Amino acid sequence: MSKKYYITTPIYYPSSNFHIGHCYCTVLADIIARYKRLRGYDVFFMTGTDEHGQKIERKAKEANLTPKEYVDRIVEDTKDLWNRLGIKYDKYIRTTDKEHIECVKKIFEILYKKGDIYKAEYEGLYCTPCESFWTESQLVDGKCPDCHRDVELVKEESYFFRLSKYQDRLLKYYEEHPEFLEPLSRKHELINNFFNKGLSDICVSRTTIDWGIEVPFDKKHTIYVWIDALANYISGLGYLSDNDEFMKKYWPADLHLVGKEIFRFHAMIWPALLMALDLPLPKKIYGHGWLVVDGAKISKSFGNYKDPRIYIKETSVDTVRYYLAKEVVFGQDGNFSEELFIQKSNADLSNDLGNLVSRVTAMVEKYNSGVIKNSDEEEDYDNDLINLACKTAKIVEEKMDDLKINEAVSSIMALVSKANKYIDLSTPWILAKDKNKQKRLDKVLYNLVECIRIVSILLQPVMVEVPQKIFEQIGIKDENLKSWDSAKEFGLLKVGTKVTKAANLFPRVEVKKEINNMQEENKKVEEKQENEEKQETKVNEKGYITIDELGKVDLRVAQIINIERVEKADKLYKLTIDLGNETRTIVSGLVPFYKEEELLNKQIVVVANLKPAKLRGIMSEGMLLAAGETDVVKLLVLDNNNGKIENGTKIH
Ligand code: MSP
Repeated sequence: MSKKYYITTPIYYPSSNFHIGHCYCTVLADIIARYKRLRGYDVFFMTGTDEHGQKIERKAKEANLTPKEYVDRIVEDTKDLWNRLGIKYDKYIRTTDKEHIECVKKIFEILYKKGDIYKAEYEGLYCTPCESFWTESQLVDGKCPDCHRDVELVKEESYFFRLSKYQDRLLKYYEEHPEFLEPLSRKHELINNFFNKGLSDICVSRTTIDWGIEVPFDKKHTIYVWIDALANYISGLGYLSDNDEFMKKYWPADLHLVGKEIFRFHAMIWPALLMALDLPLPKKIYGHGWLVVDGAKISKSFGNYKDPRIYIKETSVDTVRYYLAKEVVFGQDGNFSEELFIQKSNADLSNDLGNLVSRVTAMVEKYNSGVIKNSDEEEDYDNDLINLACKTAKIVEEKMDDLKINEAVSSIMALVSKANKYIDLSTPWILAKDKNKQKRLDKVLYNLVECIRIVSILLQPVMVEVPQKIFEQIGIKDENLKSWDSAKEFGLLKVGTKVTKAANLFPRVEVKKEINNMQEENKKVEEKQENEEKQETKVNEKGYITIDELGKVDLRVAQIINIERVEKADKLYKLTIDLGNETRTIVSGLVPFYKEEELLNKQIVVVANLKPAKLRGIMSEGMLLAAGETDVVKLLVLDNNNGKIENGTKIH
């Protein structure tokens, strides 16, 4: 039976403006997932969106949409981006999924019953963009220490989670499981910044935010988004549901890959929640670094927005994935600029890898009519190449298992360099001129194509299109020769295989021209985003309501079936109306405008779901629609020209 591997990314706040930095975590998680699949693991890779909370509530309002309408639109965008990046997830979880909501409610209830969640008064500071609570002493220059934006004072009745109770257990766990939190520097930072001061209980509900999962036993509270969000890692497996097979199969997670700024939620709150639920802890939580531009975090508000779609379009999905995997030291911050991106793409991919494949396939075609041959004509230096080719898979495995992703990719590229040097050493174009050297030429070309086969296998976690293209070019159809383990053996390539030369897999790009191109495209995207935002604000200023909001008003046809004057009230009639399956009373100020006989039997329009209110001691159960306010008031009456419509009919 194959071993399981459960890997997650954070669930993202929905946004249609994901920049290249956002893609880092998901691309890297996909690379790890693909690697594990190739190694024969039964992988479950989950990603998704974190859709509740004040931030979304506000953004939806700005866009004049309900929160659900707002997130629905964006989720499609996100999935499209992941698709373009070749992300192959096994599940996409949304915190608005019914199953997730049910699970979170149950978790909250369990912890409340256990006494790990209790009710008290909260007074503190809240950063909405980060959905984080802070104390005064944690602020930097009065601003949120994470995003440097303003915080708001929050004072409300709240539920609290007893995080303090788990402080010692957490520390002990960290100590006994040194591999649990990585990189180590982040673990030390966490202990210094939070544990050394002592953990406080955390606020886990809000009464001022509607867009969230309600506390099942106290409906005026919604559950704090971070509790809601963290639970995705188990709700997505069916925890506490009738269908918890995946929970049994895949939990505990093998790897939660998260960005450094959200490491503390995962390393501290999440394990404490799991301890409270008596569940085993994930095997590893890894806090990766950020993609930065000149040292600054990529962000639209810093004016350095980098649209991933542009880089994919101008180069290829594999170029982008390769850059993210190789040029960022895993665990640390990594630089991104158009210049670096193009330089690396030209140097590593066009010159080294692309050139190797196109040169070698061209030579096999030219000198051996595209057919793979072999011979015994060896030279000592062949062994250097063959030894490295046989070793590389093992090196890659060690590095990947150790999460040294960039080093793993570098070791594949070292084999590419070695093969290019081998061409220079063996000079096939000179061998081809001498009939007596044909056997040596056959050997050289065999070794080179075999190296390319191995490189291609090893690149499969990182690249999603190119390895298959290479297999086609070097004529490999047999799946056994594409398997991971076959990369450990040199000489599996069959004599007689037909090779076809194709264009360079990574066409070289002209640096200056392409930089301008990419920067201009980014500007256009930024402008478009700004215009859209302005448009949304304009729409909002006009005071429009959404179709959903309109749908809340229950307008119905009703017939006035009885009329009485209200005692001691000059203007009020007490009307009895027929709403189809019920009769109701409505008090209305129509006396100055209509005689009783003018109203009787008229079919009118009423707001049927208006909260009942007492007027002069009479309960008025709805409101009729009329135009005008003071001098002239005209009742909205249905014309009965073409026959009468049934009382109670809904008006759309
Ligand atoms: N919704 C929370 C996560 C909840 S998980 C239970 C969240 N979402 S996010 O959309 O703000 O961030 C998603 C991921 O993108 C985080 O891991 C974050 O670190 C990552 N990145 C955002 N900008 C980034 C870079 N510039 N570079 C690398 N990763 C970055 O936090």
